Amino acid sequence: MSDSVIKIDSFVLFGALGDLSVRKLIPAWYYLERDDMLNDGLQILGVGRQVLTKPQFHEKVKDALTTYVSAEYLDANIISKLISRFDYCCCDLQSSNNYQELSSKINEWSKPVAYYLAISPNLFEVVFDGLNSEQIITSSCRIIVEKPIGYDLESSKEINAKLLKYFDESQIYRIDHYLGKETVQNLIALRFANSLFSSQWNSKSVDYVEITAAESVGIEDRWGYFDGMGQLRDMVQSHLLQLLCLITMEPPNELSNQSIRSEKVKVLEALKPLNQDNIKSNFVSGQYTAGDNKAGYLNELGSDEQSDTETFVSIKAEIQNWRWKDVPFYLRTGKRMKSKTTQIVIHFKSDGHYIFDQDRESLKGNTLIISLHPTESISLQVFTKPHGVDKHSTLRSDPMSLDFIKTQKLLNIPSGYQSLLMDILNGNQSLFLCKEEVELAWQWCDNALEAHKKSKQELYFYPAGTDGPKESELLIQNNGHNWHEEK
Ligand code: BG6
Repeated sequence: MSDSVIKIDSFVLFGALGDLSVRKLIPAWYYLERDDMLNDGLQILGVGRQVLTKPQFHEKVKDALTTYVSAEYLDANIISKLISRFDYCCCDLQSSNNYQELSSKINEWSKPVAYYLAISPNLFEVVFDGLNSEQIITSSCRIIVEKPIGYDLESSKEINAKLLKYFDESQIYRIDHYLGKETVQNLIALRFANSLFSSQWNSKSVDYVEITAAESVGIEDRWGYFDGMGQLRDMVQSHLLQLLCLITMEPPNELSNQSIRSEKVKVLEALKPLNQDNIKSNFVSGQYTAGDNKAGYLNELGSDEQSDTETFVSIKAEIQNWRWKDVPFYLRTGKRMKSKTTQIVIHFKSDGHYIFDQDRESLKGNTLIISLHPTESISLQVFTKPHGVDKHSTLRSDPMSLDFIKTQKLLNIPSGYQSLLMDILNGNQSLFLCKEEVELAWQWCDNALEAHKKSKQELYFYPAGTDGPKESELLIQNNGHNWHEEK
């Protein structure tokens, strides 16, 4: 980020009463207020469909805070300081003729403005038209949109074209909240500031890599949205592929937007396409049935009994470049799994000549576990000799661990949104996606879904509360590998 980048103090939150704002964004503003990160002049205008007075909206903000910020962190002074920044404007976004009140509020503010669209993508264009007809799009304002950017390559291109009709790429902030997570940002430091790892980060030393985002939640009240997407589009297209990019990209020349984004683009370009010839051995999809006292996908609220939408996928991916030749990257994600676990596991190769006991277990190489949930930590499994006079040739495996909450004496791990909101205000785009990343990721997912459909591959069922279908185990075992299990 250059020093000349303008800082922003005027923020408009479209969809201020929606799920994303209430659960994630308003709590994130609270933590930033608590940590004294916000300029005194910062003002936030919530825009929603409901007719509310400013005090009524303030009550809604307070409800969001008491529901989604842990009680131990709530402080009445911080709540009232944050609430005093919020104003409200009722606006039916469906018609671009309704934006006069919004525009007169914005015109009272200092410029430039950040427009955060926490709304359905099918409203984007009408909002852009409304802002444009009121002449409140300036060359220094910022526009923020959330993943998913579209439903497939074609629709993502349409959204990108709409964005680029009114905004320059340097004004567009495409959010994937995983990139705001501290441990995800730490991948760059881990890889490029530690020669111990950077020298081993290639196909000569790495045997295989797992990226898992297992969720214990089901679909809850999002069936309508989710059924049109499925787990591949919802989780793999952005979250898992972004993790894959950060794990495998070449070192950027510097920590600038352009350098980081262009290295990620190269990874996406090198991803081996899944097609009808290779899909069967590289792709498993599943759907949860009732189990663990939880309803099956087809019995969730609002469901359609016929749906074959996948709630689980596991994939063997390959990156066709010099560094990663023949290294499998296993991606796995599902709803209603045994527990919420988000982790990257790097399995290093074992040494050739082995002098300890011949127990197969001990022959395995070191494992580096980068955990995003339930802990935010990095842990390297190393082999040592157990203490004891008669234990000369046996080995045990123990973790050398870094738990960020403990080592950095944090009060709590910030949600991804805190750092993303600060970056929007400060004009730093390095944690946001560029157009090419979004479109290449869709291209890969579109290919996989098309190949899956054409090859008439089965949808496998798994009971809620489990690790997914057994075929997912077979996918990795057929290559001589195993999913990492916490002991
Ligand atoms: C969202 C998906 O992007 O990420 C949700 O739409 C998913 O379906 C969520 O539950 C997971 O985020 P996190 O931070 O809880 O892993």
